[in-house]
Amino acid sequence: MVIKEPKIYVEPPGPRAREIIEKHKRYVATTTHDPKNIPLVIERGEGVWLQDVDGNVYLDFSSSISVSNLGYPIHPEVKSIVIEMLNVLTHAAGTDFFNPYQVALAEKLTRISPGAFNKKVFLCNSGTEAIEAAIKLLRHSTGRKYFIAFIGAFHGRTMGSLSLTASKPIQRRSYMPMIGGVIHVPYPNPYRNPWHIDGYEYPDELINMVIEYIDYWIFQHLASADEVAGIFFEPIQGEGGYVVPPRGFFGELYKLAKKYNIMLVDDEVQMALGRTGKMFAIEHFNVAPDIIAMAKALGGGVIPIGATIFRAELDFAPGAHSNTFGGHALASMVALRTVEVVEKLLPHVALLEKVFKEKLFELKNRYSVVGDVRGLGLAWGIEFVKDRKSKEHDEKTRNRVLYEALKRGLVLLGCGKSSIRIAPPIIISEDEAMKGLEILEQAIKEVTPHSLT
Ligand SMILES: Cc1ncc(COP(=O)(O)O)c(C=O)c1O
Repeated sequence: MVIKEPKIYVEPPGPRAREIIEKHKRYVATTTHDPKNIPLVIERGEGVWLQDVDGNVYLDFSSSISVSNLGYPIHPEVKSIVIEMLNVLTHAAGTDFFNPYQVALAEKLTRISPGAFNKKVFLCNSGTEAIEAAIKLLRHSTGRKYFIAFIGAFHGRTMGSLSLTASKPIQRRSYMPMIGGVIHVPYPNPYRNPWHIDGYEYPDELINMVIEYIDYWIFQHLASADEVAGIFFEPIQGEGGYVVPPRGFFGELYKLAKKYNIMLVDDEVQMALGRTGKMFAIEHFNVAPDIIAMAKALGGGVIPIGATIFRAELDFAPGAHSNTFGGHALASMVALRTVEVVEKLLPHVALLEKVFKEKLFELKNRYSVVGDVRGLGLAWGIEFVKDRKSKEHDEKTRNRVLYEALKRGLVLLGCGKSSIRIAPPIIISEDEAMKGLEILEQAIKEVTPHSLT
């Protein structure tokens, strides 16, 4: 790819894209594509740039859902370890035979994750599998049967993790019954919560409401605290809308959990590895969870891998849990190298946070359809509303912005009911960031009936 500018030769979907989308519909299972608003058929990628099958060039603000944090097609330092391992070892039954590669990765993950206690790591292939391992660990090792999860959460789509997920009804509706024992409680969303508290103005009030809801309404009426094995949470809700809770929340949740010896499970599948400017998003909140699930970016955008980092004393009995691909030698070394590269990029993310924050709040001040802007590092959400007072979701405008941006050469993804997530590869330069933010503004301008200024 020579051009490193947004360049649209033919409005997407172009003729080749249309052909492939039709064939895709014929042969590939239906999942979450949205061909109306994001008719993007990717042929290749370079850095933060994607080229579609009709030759259009786009700037990527999605990292392919926070996976390709190191850009496309592969970061040079990750590439070198792939090539090295192709001559050494790839798969060698990592859960039946031992190998040094998974040990090196596990040791690194236990060292970089918050918490000065002994930890172990279960290696797997995806986010949902990392969450399943956490569910099973808790049932296996605590003897308790209940879990608490948050409304708006997305923890995956296999039956255990789906039972924790409460993002969109369509994700659950055909699959009842879920696993038993999951209790959902409101997330401390500062912008939109059941108590209509402005959580930006009154964070402590919002925090107290959620803690009281669990401690009084749940523990005194539904399941006593000593029956609850774990509380699952996303430090920033991803699919739910890139929602950032008040800074004090997880500290209070931690106190509550410790009071009743309940384990805290931090789902970092979408946020871990540098996206927020720290390795793990929970580090912004100064809390050490008992279990951390991760996947997505851990594979360097090259290889599917997931990991569950947990307190060593929770470990499984021999034979109680395993899989085929866990401890894959090549995947482990790719993940290890990815972690090392991300470590070096953390200051860069912190610097670029300012660029996004400034411009996105400017958009909020300028366009009435932008109801809320929230984020950390390179993880930002913009929520579209019909009216700022009523906060009625404006899904139509959100979808139009997605398409108008694409038409101008910027790839974005939706989240929540009417939000857009901004999650560019963390290697993005300031110049590229500004280019993308300009296109985002043009797209909003195109669809918004009136601006505030
Ligand atoms: C926070 C979170 N947890 C779990 C998952 C599930 O991961 P996977 O799709 O790899 O199973 C996702 C996926 O988007 C996620 O964002």
